[in-house]
Amino acid sequence: MTLSPSNWPKKLFTSTTVIHVLVFLSVASSTLEAAAGGSTFELELPDAAQSEEIKVKSTDFPGDFVFGVATSAAQTEGAPKADGKGQSVWEYFAAHFPGIVKDNTKFPDGIDSYNRYMDLGVGSYRFSIPWTRILPSGALSGGVNQKAVDHYNSLINELIKNGIKPSVTILHFDLPQALEEKYGGYLNRSFVNDFRDYSDVLFKTFGDRVKHWVTINEPKVLALYGYENGWAPPGCTRRSIRFTEPLVFGDYPKSMKESVKERLPAFTEEEKTALTGSFDFLGINYYLSGFARNEPNPSPEAMLPHEIDAKASDQVAKNGVVLGNPLGSYPEGLQKLLEYTKTKYQNPNIYIAENGVGGFRNDTMPLEVVLNDGFKIVYILRHLNAISKAIKNGVKVKGYYIWTLLDDFEWGTGLMFQYGLYNIDFNDNFKRMPRLSAKWYQAYLQKT
Ligand code: NOJ
Repeated sequence: MTLSPSNWPKKLFTSTTVIHVLVFLSVASSTLEAAAGGSTFELELPDAAQSEEIKVKSTDFPGDFVFGVATSAAQTEGAPKADGKGQSVWEYFAAHFPGIVKDNTKFPDGIDSYNRYMDLGVGSYRFSIPWTRILPSGALSGGVNQKAVDHYNSLINELIKNGIKPSVTILHFDLPQALEEKYGGYLNRSFVNDFRDYSDVLFKTFGDRVKHWVTINEPKVLALYGYENGWAPPGCTRRSIRFTEPLVFGDYPKSMKESVKERLPAFTEEEKTALTGSFDFLGINYYLSGFARNEPNPSPEAMLPHEIDAKASDQVAKNGVVLGNPLGSYPEGLQKLLEYTKTKYQNPNIYIAENGVGGFRNDTMPLEVVLNDGFKIVYILRHLNAISKAIKNGVKVKGYYIWTLLDDFEWGTGLMFQYGLYNIDFNDNFKRMPRLSAKWYQAYLQKT
């Protein structure tokens, strides 16, 4: 397995806006050497008590556990018109709402991953296929774009040739703008038919080799940001919430029906039957935890619409205390969430489809500092430790994907945060450079 950098501008294969950033105000109360695959990595720990947590090894996980990295097309591919691609809602939104999307003029180029080869060296690669490349008009009636099919065929084949399991997200926030304009996107039932048609094309075209499909990335974020606070397309402030419950039990929870009332669409009996247990695994994107406060008498002035519906408000801190040390890094929350999901949703198979942390971009910082992201390794190890504990308690976690492989375009915050195992130089032709975390992950996955 290799995880080698590439700056090769040659075409072979490529591939929420919650902010997850660790703020290291006072670090280094302790340093520790973490061993991985025969190499050692010196890590600074904000809290000496974490030294036990970071001892977790890849061999502590079941033999078939998948370690991967995740990306999404809209955040990395660029090439917005290549091979006949149609426009996504994010391309439209970034162009028309520059005040909301930072660095918006950089959005169309992503990090040019549509045109670049990358040797990943991990067990699995989660990426998304843009709907608007395969069906440029959004609808099947507008035709399937063979050039795009050829592109993803070669990507998938190349991954498989290199022993990397493809995991494909069908919709990662980049709905076709044409469908938004035609009928209002997600809010119209026609979306169900178009999404089914698009998914069918993917299954029929790539399903002989892709066995792992993630349907819709972060539906809750999509609803909150697109329809409540307006930080994502379409940017309305209408109400919308969804839960996991229908996928397991075939319907929305009673409490939700009671509070949302007629604004909640009803499933037909046929849909309920089709929905019940209709998934092979749940994908969880976990970054941080917060608090929810019970609000039996919700206040429309002080609370957001989804909080009013839930009769609970989101709280960052309780009595002035934020969860996690350093700020926001709270692996215990992941373990609790996993164990809750096991109990509440009939012990499903689970993949941690995203977990990671970004550092602030500061182009005046020396390169060696930018590349030295030991804090990311500590964050990842502590979360792997939490997952390993949950597995020991019977939770069926089957894999883990780091967000993200390369620095990317982080939606509303643009280029402000650096989540990548690889650094991208946006001033030098998207040059890729491995950070410490990339070298560590490679060593960590060597089962020695
Ligand atoms: C979750 C989203 O799926 C992804 O697109 C985003 O970049 C990360 N969170 C980090 O903010």
